[in-house]
Amino acid sequence: VDAEKRVAAEAAAALVEDGMTVGLGTGSTVEHLLAALSARKLRIRCVATSMQTERAALGLGLRVEPFEALERLDLAIDGADQIAPDRWLVKGGGGAHTREKIVAAAADRFVVIASSDKLVDELRPPIPLELLRFGLAATLRALGHAGLRDEQSPDGNLIADYHGAIGDPASLAAWLSSTPGVVEHGLFPPVLVDEILVGSGPGVERR
Ligand code: 5RP
Repeated sequence: VDAEKRVAAEAAAALVEDGMTVGLGTGSTVEHLLAALSARKLRIRCVATSMQTERAALGLGLRVEPFEALERLDLAIDGADQIAPDRWLVKGGGGAHTREKIVAAAADRFVVIASSDKLVDELRPPIPLELLRFGLAATLRALGHAGLRDEQSPDGNLIADYHGAIGDPASLAAWLSSTPGVVEHGLFPPVLVDEILVGSGPGVERR
C-alpha cells in the first residue's frame, strides 16, 4: 500500500512546474508527495491544509505561505479515504477536510493521489465532519448518527464522523451542508476532481 501511495505521489509531483502555486493536502500519501516535490528543487509557492503538512513541507525546504492573500492556485494535490467509480470522494481521515475542500476548490486543477485500496464500489460510512463547538449537543442531535473524535481540525473546531446511511451522496452532502453547526463535511463532489492517480502495483493508473 505504501509503495502504491509513493508511485501515485511521484506521478503527481511530475505535474508540478516551476513558478506554480500548489495546494498541499494532508496524510501519508501527501508525505510522499512532499519528498518528491522537494527533490525536484522547483521554485513553487505552496499552501498547506494542516500543521502536519506545513511542518513537513518546511522541513523539506518547500516554501509555504498563508492561504489568505492568494486568490487561486494552479494545482492542488491530495489523498482520499474512498474513491467511488463516479468520482465522489470521502476525505477527512486526517480531520483536515474543510481546508482540503477550500484548497481543492481554489485550484485550477485538483489531482487526487491514492493507493488502490481506496477504490470502492460505493461510498460507505463514516463521513468525516467538522463541527463548531457552539451548540455542539444540538448539532449532534440534529445529525442523529454522529460520533465525536478526540481530535480537532486545523482551525480548532471539533471533528466527528457521520455513521448514518449514505444513499445518494449529493443529497447527503446537501443535507449535511444545510445543517447548522456543520462547518464542512468530507464528501467531495466529482465536479471538484480533475484527475485521479492510483498506484496499481508498480505503476500508476490515471482516471
Ligand atoms: C486527510 C485526508 C487524507 O487525504 C485521507 O485521510 C487519506 O490519507 P492517507 O494518504 O494517509 O491514506 O483526507 O483529511
